[in-house]
Amino acid sequence: MDSYRHLSVSLLVLLALLGAVSHAEGFVSFNSLSSKRTLVVTVSMANNSDIKEVHTGQDSILVNWSVNASAPAIVDAKTVETRLCFAKESQTLRGWRKTDDNLKKDKTCLYKIQRQPYAPAGSVTYALPKSIPGAKYFVRAYVFNSSDLQIAYGQSSPNKINNTFTVIPISGRHGSIDAAVGVFSIFSVGSLFAFFIFENLYLKRKKAV
Ligand SMILES: *[C@@H]1O[C@H](CO)[C@@H](O)[C@H](O)[C@H]1NC(C)=O
Ligand SMILES: *[C@@H]1O[C@H](CO)[C@@H](O)[C@H](O)[C@H]1NC(C)=O
Ligand SMILES: *[C@@H]1O[C@H](CO)[C@@H](O)[C@H](O)[C@H]1NC(C)=O
Ligand SMILES: *[C@@H]1O[C@H](CO)[C@@H](O)[C@H](O)[C@H]1NC(C)=O
Ligand SMILES: *[C@@H]1O[C@H](CO)[C@@H](O)[C@H](O)[C@H]1NC(C)=O
Repeated sequence: MDSYRHLSVSLLVLLALLGAVSHAEGFVSFNSLSSKRTLVVTVSMANNSDIKEVHTGQDSILVNWSVNASAPAIVDAKTVETRLCFAKESQTLRGWRKTDDNLKKDKTCLYKIQRQPYAPAGSVTYALPKSIPGAKYFVRAYVFNSSDLQIAYGQSSPNKINNTFTVIPISGRHGSIDAAVGVFSIFSVGSLFAFFIFENLYLKRKKAV
């Protein structure tokens, strides 16, 4: 009985410590922001035309955000960060793009577009680098507070399905590397390295023909 109480006390202490650690790490839950969808975010081609397909290494996108005046005011806003995020269908069966409610672990929005001091409205033109894999995307903007934690957001798709756009790699190469990373991560770093050597040799030979 006594040792039982001892155990539960140590468990409580451990839980409290874990709680303190995760608090210190600044865990922000995405679901906790659901009532803070305060930004209106739009994305179009850089020339303002509708966005459907964009090519890496070639096209630019225009992201606009503004505070929704009828939403609750944002207090202590310091930074705005815009990010490219995978649409739902491009996350299917791809663990490395998985959504996690803990925003520190979330892989939905892997690619940063821009981070800048907070303003109630702004826009950014972003030339799509060749490193962005071919997939369906939308854009999300986060507002960070003075503790550098997310306090509000907005996104260009209501549900990660509607209003998304397709990124097309400049050649099939990045897509195949992206797929290969998924396949080879089950094996060793060695086989991945072997794959790159193989692909380079193969491509070189192909080019030489
Ligand atoms: C806008 O740019 C895209 C390519 O970046 C092009 O396909 C489209 O025709 C342009 N639209 C207008 C209205 O200029
Ligand atoms: C985005 O902002 C730019 C610059 O303020 C503006 O010219 C453009 O019309 C805006 N586009 C949309 C879709 O709101
Ligand atoms: C702005 O916020 C109001 C209240 O939360 C909401 O009903 C409305 O849909 C929002 N508008 C946009 C464009 O997101
Ligand atoms: C910043 O936001 C986080 C979570 O959204 C909150 O826990 C923290 O207290 C905020 N920091 C300040 C200084 O308000
Ligand atoms: C998404 O698009 C479908 C088909 O166009 C429409 O029926 C649905 O209401 C849309 N959902 C949202 C959340 O906008």
